[in-house]
Amino acid sequence: MIQLSESDYLAEGYARTCYFHPENENLCIKIGKPEVEKSHLYKEINYYKKIKNKQIATFDYPFYAMYHGVIDTNLGEGFVYDLIRNETNQEVSKTLLNYISMKKDNPIEDAVFNEALKSLKAQMIKHKVFASDLRPRNICCKLLKNGTMQMIIIDGIGHRDFFPVADWFGFFAKRKVERRFQSIHINTIDDHRQLLKRLYPNWSY
Ligand SMILES: Nc1ncnc2c1ncn2[C@@H]1O[C@H](COP(=O)(O)OP(=O)(O)OP(=O)(O)O)[C@@H](O)[C@H]1O
Ligand SMILES: [Mg+2]
Repeated sequence: MIQLSESDYLAEGYARTCYFHPENENLCIKIGKPEVEKSHLYKEINYYKKIKNKQIATFDYPFYAMYHGVIDTNLGEGFVYDLIRNETNQEVSKTLLNYISMKKDNPIEDAVFNEALKSLKAQMIKHKVFASDLRPRNICCKLLKNGTMQMIIIDGIGHRDFFPVADWFGFFAKRKVERRFQSIHINTIDDHRQLLKRLYPNWSY
């Protein structure tokens, strides 16, 4: 059993608390909050199981955090994922929300984010991997040594389609991803800023 303590705490969302894996600096462990239904936690896990045979070697880069299974911890069942770190400084990569929240102090040019968003979208289409909640807090921005960035989905991959035609056919995959990016307007970092304004009217930029 893995022992987690307060010093292993990394961050949290509404559904899960995220800890550093005490035995592997490239992994994190997510623990469901007590008030969250198991079925909610397992939605994503089941999707990971479904896509486990995808050929990651054919990806331009791993564009979603890889999942490594369930373990026992002193805090209950823990879900193990790759911890996203920058190539530049080995620090845990910030989320897109972290960067947008820096406002004028954001050290990275918009063009870098926009390029990364474009390739995230292209990868999702090409490899037919979908995400139900692409809000900026669920995307990590991994900084690379060459000055570019990889955007990696850390939460909410999957979909709820009853007839998952997008899983099978490229045309439907493209349409599904395009529609998603269009409908919630997330093609550029400015779109994400607007999204935050719509979600949280008090948000200022
Ligand atoms: N694989 C990861 N690598 C680096 N940081 C991560 C990773 N997974 C999660 N985090 C950090 O932990 C936070 C919470 O994790 P996560 O989004 O999985 O929780 P959640 O409760 O499912 O979120 P939500 O509130 O969006 O439902 C993220 O916003 C991010 O800051
Ligand atoms: Mg989240």
